[in-house]
Amino acid sequence: MDLTTRYLGLELRNPLVAGAGPLTGELDNIRRLEDAGVGAVVLPSVFEEQIEQEQHLIDEFTTAGVDSYAEALSYFPAQTVYAMDPERYVDLVQRAVKAVDIPVVASLNGVTDQGWINYARRIEEAGASAIELNIYFIPSDLALSGREVEQRYLDVLKAVKETVTCPVAVKIGPYFSAIGHMALQLDEAGADGLVLFNRFYEPDIDLARLALVSDLELSRPYEIRLPLLWIGILSGRIKASLAASTGVDSINEVVKYLLAGADVIMTTSSLLRHGIGHVGQILAGLESWLAARDLETLQTIRGRMSHRNIADPTAFERANYIKVLQDYAIGGRRAD
Ligand SMILES: Cc1cc2nc3c(=O)[nH]c(=O)nc-3n(C[C@H](O)[C@H](O)[C@H](O)COP(=O)(O)O)c2cc1C
Repeated sequence: MDLTTRYLGLELRNPLVAGAGPLTGELDNIRRLEDAGVGAVVLPSVFEEQIEQEQHLIDEFTTAGVDSYAEALSYFPAQTVYAMDPERYVDLVQRAVKAVDIPVVASLNGVTDQGWINYARRIEEAGASAIELNIYFIPSDLALSGREVEQRYLDVLKAVKETVTCPVAVKIGPYFSAIGHMALQLDEAGADGLVLFNRFYEPDIDLARLALVSDLELSRPYEIRLPLLWIGILSGRIKASLAASTGVDSINEVVKYLLAGADVIMTTSSLLRHGIGHVGQILAGLESWLAARDLETLQTIRGRMSHRNIADPTAFERANYIKVLQDYAIGGRRAD
């Protein structure tokens, strides 16, 4: 059975990608993920704040008496266990590229088009097959218009594209008033792929301590709905590859994303929940799903249920909303 897939112009043996997360930050896991069968790995992110911080430290050592970096140091948790310092990150990319034959995608995480972008070149020189650019931006400044926010995404992408020649995927969240148009603009600005979607970790409030708390819950399959909708709408309508990210736990979500039109399907939570061996189960499940329908390649199902290909595309839109409400009412589940 042929599961080969093109993503960002790269040839992958299959569409299952180990998404950015803590597992892919360890060389041993990267090797195990390759052995388990993934088509590619995305390393955890290195953050703009870390890169800037390191640059300030270098400036401090080379510019005696200047103490201007103190503030920069305070806005990133320096003792973070998760995030890797930029030097170690380059080292990880180099070692990973040497250790495995599958594509290694490095992840840059930032929101400005400033000096930190030069670091992308180091990642490319370290041998990364591609860069995933995670733009995790919360526009809390009420003066910022939607247009300005969109421009920021485009500026960051353009700056990275001008710095490297390897393919660049952009990982975005779903909170735009016109996701389709944003996707189109990123496509036109040279994004080789879009990763849909970033999962935002909104803070909660601890009522006992009256403090904001941050935590992280692994995703659940019901969360595929939003990326599924937008992958379905975008499929076949932009040049950039489409990567689905969020909610994969089993073969079911993988097949649904393929039917909607995803080129690759990323999973982070399922591997943390079930272990690296889960990769084998998903891939075996995908092969049996196709075999049970006498299908030899993924081309026969990819995008088959996209907005462009289904008989009634309004099912992706308002009609679905009205139908859902109607079904609920007819089902007699009203409060009375
Ligand atoms: C523990 C953890 C760490 C993560 N770290 C990163 C990261 O460094 N960079 C990034 O772009 N996404 C990161 N993510 C987000 C995942 O790559 C992914 O987009 C998100 O979890 C949704 O996919 P999932 O449902 O397969 O988990 C992280 C997710 C988890 C659960």
